[in-house]
Amino acid sequence: MKLKALIASGGRGTRLRPITHTQNKHLIPIANKPILHYAIEAAARAGIRDIGIVTNADSEEVPKAIGDGSNWGVKITYIPQDAPLGLAHVVKISEEFVGEDDFVFYLGDNMVVGGLDKYIDSFRASKANCYLTLAKVKDPERFGVPEIKDGMIVRVEEKPKQPKSSYAVAGIYFYDRHIFEAVNSIKPSVRGELEISDAHQYLIDHNYKIGYAEITGWWKDTGKPTDLLEANRLVLENTDPTIEPEVEVDTDSDVAGRVVLQKGCKIKNSKVRGPAIIGEGVVIENSYVGPFTSVGKGTHVLNSEVEYSIILKRCRIMDAGMRIEGSLLGNDVEIVRADGKPRVQRFMIGDQSRVEVA
Ligand code: G1P
Repeated sequence: MKLKALIASGGRGTRLRPITHTQNKHLIPIANKPILHYAIEAAARAGIRDIGIVTNADSEEVPKAIGDGSNWGVKITYIPQDAPLGLAHVVKISEEFVGEDDFVFYLGDNMVVGGLDKYIDSFRASKANCYLTLAKVKDPERFGVPEIKDGMIVRVEEKPKQPKSSYAVAGIYFYDRHIFEAVNSIKPSVRGELEISDAHQYLIDHNYKIGYAEITGWWKDTGKPTDLLEANRLVLENTDPTIEPEVEVDTDSDVAGRVVLQKGCKIKNSKVRGPAIIGEGVVIENSYVGPFTSVGKGTHVLNSEVEYSIILKRCRIMDAGMRIEGSLLGNDVEIVRADGKPRVQRFMIGDQSRVEVA
């Protein structure tokens, strides 16, 4: 039977404000590529050709940024969701798109290394109605958590205060059409959402077959800024060093390790220590860019030091003083030296920003 993919890209991304005031969280770049691309690529690589993407109904941002799928050789159908009413609601409104086919439901803010093929194979082999991927985590109370007895999932609880295992149900689920019976039967939770964990519990209670696989490589749900930095680190660590055309690195500079230099970037009298990616047209001058840093297109770094950070497009970091570390900068952000006396720190910062000073 054919397998489709359904990717969730809605929600408000409240834990990633202020970046998400102006940008859908699924379009925030990891290693200079929108998070959502990783989900689409994973589906395309697994041979899936029909992809549905559920979007916020009030925004054209995702369809505009992603297009019709031809870049990946797939066909993308957009499914607008009127309000963020939960992940089971995302599935519910996609019934027409899915039809009678089996499908993988992929939360667009989840990232997993190593692709989907092996999970698709084991889903098929298991003949399960619902096949979950589980990842060991330190903080299961943030996720859907399975209770496992004798190798069977006997219960799934959403964000339990007392988790029954140290596993999170990761945001990559495989279903046959019976999931629609579940999402059409469950009632909203106390937070007013149709919870995907309740749909799973429905299937368990009605004796449907639930299988699971443990994700043994890395998996990340990129809900918080620290998750993004960590995902960025993991992707960069697995990226091969590349030098694109028209790159200039002068003889006073030192570029070492896994570094991707994108088209037309210039490195002058600077040190770049990989893993790192320096975006298109970026200028790094008299500066240090340390490991696990992504520098977005058109950014200028002068007389400054940056490490373990994600910097979006067209930022200006000039004479920043202390090293910038563990930071997430949006588009068009400026960090520059305050001129004149007395020596001060001067801020012009939008709503819900956060600055930590030494
Ligand atoms: C959602 C699901 C949760 C799952 C998690 C995986 O949580 O409700 O069951 O474990 O995704 O990323 P959310 O990230 O919406 O809080």
